[in-house]
Amino acid sequence: MKVLFAASEAVPFIKTGGLADVIGSLPKALAKQGLDVRVILPKYEGIPQHFVQKMESVAVFDLQMGWRSLFCGILKLEHEGIIFYFVDNEYYFKRNGCYGYGDDAERFAFYCRAVMDALQHIDFMPDIIHCHDWQAGMIPVLYRAHFSYQPPYAHLKTVATVHNLKYQGVFGKEQCKDYFSLGDEHFHGYALEQHGGASFLKGGLLYSDFITTVSPTYAEEIQTPYYGEHLDSLLRSQSHRLTGILNGLDYEEFDPMTDPHVEINYRDSLAKKQQNKVKLQERLGLPVNKEIPLIALVTRLVDQKGIALIDRVIGELMSLDAQWVILGTGEPRFEQLFRWAANAFEDKLSAQILFDEGLARQIYAGSDLFLMPSLFEPCGIGQLIAMRYRSVPIVRETGGLRDTVIPYNDKTGEGTGFSFTHYNAHDMLYTVERAVKLYRDPNVWANLISNIKKKDFSWRKSAQQYADLYQSLVN
Ligand code: GLC
Repeated sequence: MKVLFAASEAVPFIKTGGLADVIGSLPKALAKQGLDVRVILPKYEGIPQHFVQKMESVAVFDLQMGWRSLFCGILKLEHEGIIFYFVDNEYYFKRNGCYGYGDDAERFAFYCRAVMDALQHIDFMPDIIHCHDWQAGMIPVLYRAHFSYQPPYAHLKTVATVHNLKYQGVFGKEQCKDYFSLGDEHFHGYALEQHGGASFLKGGLLYSDFITTVSPTYAEEIQTPYYGEHLDSLLRSQSHRLTGILNGLDYEEFDPMTDPHVEINYRDSLAKKQQNKVKLQERLGLPVNKEIPLIALVTRLVDQKGIALIDRVIGELMSLDAQWVILGTGEPRFEQLFRWAANAFEDKLSAQILFDEGLARQIYAGSDLFLMPSLFEPCGIGQLIAMRYRSVPIVRETGGLRDTVIPYNDKTGEGTGFSFTHYNAHDMLYTVERAVKLYRDPNVWANLISNIKKKDFSWRKSAQQYADLYQSLVN
């Protein structure tokens, strides 16, 4: 089985969010099952030089976009056994970051066209093109419109995976007609049209052979108006070819036993974990205290992550007998909130308004509790890393959070964390209070950790589900 992943980011080359973690790890898990999986990414300016130096050119061709003929290079690099291709055009991709430019429609139209055209040049004809998020959403559209009836392509199947329905890539219809050489018949309501424009993501949903999203609960949620981002009725109508497959975690990459950033490596020893807490408190300038529960947030500071709930009850949270560390960047109002709190409650909270992978790992290792009160969460990776580093998650029951954290039950002793149902600041506050209280009971805590230990969040099971899905499409 040959599969080409088309995505806009992948660890370790370039990352803005959780998508990159998936694209960096799922191909390896599929390769272990015997599949030949390769990945094709844009060649951004931000890819570290030591990777760029090792890339080899495999093709150079002219790409036709509308009336223009454009340079397109394809480079290749093998990393940890996986072949990555990079789409090269400096005008489009030699810029800072990945997205957010006024011409993103044109940039990712170029990328989608390059993926389809590259198939003639790279000596790799997949059975499946697996397209991730809106940036690759137009690949199934191009395929249906221009390639499906041609012999070397006729067997191809496409899968579209939604990592976040909120980002849809909606652009002007006229420009899209031009970039993709499409006629009017593709721009009505049961095709690309969305909010008066054309939606790349909707293209992926409607023109692909199968739709997946990154957790079973999110697959259900997006079929309701609350989570559906105006695509819920479409998704309900496609529910027979929509499924949720939970993201896994790269257990080799994230392992407190071997993690070079963790000062005292450990796996299950809570005593060693406490030593990491002390190191962390020293590094952050918090009062050193082994006994006090340390609650962490490692997150983008945006609405999706439920930061507004924290804002609402920040005073009450700071009056708990606990310490806090926040790591992440995002909306100015939330960055402000934590800068203010770090000043007002300097013995209680450390605000690290930045992104630093090493510090993130030390926080997972040194914290006791990990808070993720998300408004919505397609899958979420923070709670998985937290559990792997034996930091107990406190989550809202939505999307992948609901699928991965079992609420602790005092009566039966079952459960792997704490959770609340409604998006409500006081429900969250109450849940944090309860977690802080139970932290003081060593038996409860040992029990929670031992329950977490028994869970397997590696990619193994989910990779098998993807492999089965590909097989069923090819058959
Ligand atoms: C997006 C989602 C997140 C998910 C990730 C990878 O970033 O917001 O919940 O874990 O994609 O699928």
